[in-house]
Amino acid sequence: MRGRALLPSLLLALGLAEAPEARAQATAADITQTAETPEALPPGEAREEVFYTCTACHGTAIIRRSRLSRQQWDDLMDWMTEKHGMNPLEGEQRRQIVDYLAAQFPASAAGRRRAGNPFLTD
Ligand code: HEC
Repeated sequence: MRGRALLPSLLLALGLAEAPEARAQATAADITQTAETPEALPPGEAREEVFYTCTACHGTAIIRRSRLSRQQWDDLMDWMTEKHGMNPLEGEQRRQIVDYLAAQFPASAAGRRRAGNPFLTD
């Protein structure tokens, strides 16, 4: 009697009984967007604004891997609205978001090279 009651707590103490569940939770957290925080984006004035506006629909990775000019970021905001139903960005809020995106993810020479032939250096 005493020995049977002891077994589950012994397994718990060894971490054996809980291990599979803990692993499953870690995996789920790794693949869901909700695990992201604004710190996934580089520091900047409009970081939180960008994070909460954009991650309503997708993670930050799709933003972080993009390299666009200010004009292209600006156009992309219209595309997000027209094609995907994002609330229109206007005025000061739009200026801050586009400024942030253009400053943090600019259309650099390196970005253009990545998009082209990787064996060419210019
Ligand atoms: C209402 C939903 C929604 C919101 C809000 C939204 N997006 Fe998107 N975005 C999408 C969808 C859906 C796609 C995938 C488009 C596709 O694959 O055709 C996408 C794709 C993108 C892409 C990839 C474009 C490409 O060249 O493939 C970028 C960059 C992007 N979004 C940036 C942003 C930024 C920055 C914000 C916030 C200012 C934002 N999105 C807000 C829905 C949204």
